[in-house]
Amino acid sequence: MEGENKMNSEKLVKIFKAFIEKNNEAFYKIAWEIIDEEKRKKHHLLATQLKRILTENSFASNINYTPQLPPIPRDNEKGFRLLDVKKFFMDWNDAILAIETEETLKQIVKELQMEEILATYGLKPKQKILFYGHSGTGKTLSAKILSSVISYPLVYVRFESVISSFLGETASNLRKIFDFIEKGKWVVLFDEFDIIGKQRDDPTEHGEIKRVVNNFMLMLENYEGNSLIIASTNHPHLLDVGVWRRFDEIIYFDLPDKERRKKIFEKYLRVLKKEKNFDFDKLSEKSEGFSGADIEQTCQEALKMAILNGKDTVSLNDVLNAISKQQKRIAAKRVLKYERTY
Ligand SMILES: Nc1ncnc2c1ncn2[C@@H]1O[C@H](COP(=O)(O)OP(=O)(O)OP(=O)(O)O)[C@@H](O)[C@H]1O
Ligand SMILES: [Mg+2]
Repeated sequence: MEGENKMNSEKLVKIFKAFIEKNNEAFYKIAWEIIDEEKRKKHHLLATQLKRILTENSFASNINYTPQLPPIPRDNEKGFRLLDVKKFFMDWNDAILAIETEETLKQIVKELQMEEILATYGLKPKQKILFYGHSGTGKTLSAKILSSVISYPLVYVRFESVISSFLGETASNLRKIFDFIEKGKWVVLFDEFDIIGKQRDDPTEHGEIKRVVNNFMLMLENYEGNSLIIASTNHPHLLDVGVWRRFDEIIYFDLPDKERRKKIFEKYLRVLKKEKNFDFDKLSEKSEGFSGADIEQTCQEALKMAILNGKDTVSLNDVLNAISKQQKRIAAKRVLKYERTY
């Protein structure tokens, strides 16, 4: 018993040290030893629980890494992760998109699935895609769906974190990301790409950022791995012409029209029964200019209002009230954006 305790305390010291020193390899080695030991002691529940923590990836987790992945690159100065890897299990029904948008996305999947056949004709599937369009129209969502449908894990790169406050680090951060993505088959999402795609000759931009943009474009051009690379932005006017040319496909995500808004309301109000005379057409009429994300937020608001009032149905009025609230929120956001831009 005493020997066992000694062994445990040694492992505890080691695992704490590995974590603080960000020594992934040592951390995983000890973690797996602990799991094996718990299994030996027939603590199956605990062993399973620990294993799950170790192998299930999440954007939120700090030590999110599975042994089969190459080490996740980190920023040198601050040590934070430059990307996250996650698996999704979604399908085309999770987004209500314009027919052309959905068809273009499906075509990308088809080309990847037929990669070998295309290769026999000297052809390659599309690999570098730009998503652009209004905020909340399903760009990030579609990247997750693509990743699910073709079963490549999603590598998520938030540009804000790549642009280090130590600007010299930024180019090296990018290099590390491209080195990582060359090692596997992923859907790589460079989300909120605007920060790097800003006009290269914009006088307000720092010279270093311009260098980084050039650097990114070169890396994108030279990329020869097997991943599908998606860059996403809602400021296409900020993108330099050179950036556009480097993509095999550019996909526009528009705000939903009346018919699509109706479908999105139906989707997000599904969880509660509707009161008599509930009119979805009225909702889509009243929500002109709403994005998919706006409609989702409106529906959540209405559902909460109904549930908190002890009802098991949602009324047309609940949703109409939530629409008015959302309209105010959208107007406030516009003012904020305007003030920030000019
Ligand atoms: N077309 C859509 N169909 C169904 N749900 C949608 C749609 N668009 C957005 N949503 C909902 O809104 C959420 C946010 O959308 P998403 O993150 O994909 O927006 P985005 O286009 O990436 O916006 P941003 O440019 O601000 O990053 C989604 O997770 C989804 O729940
Ligand atoms: Mg997004």
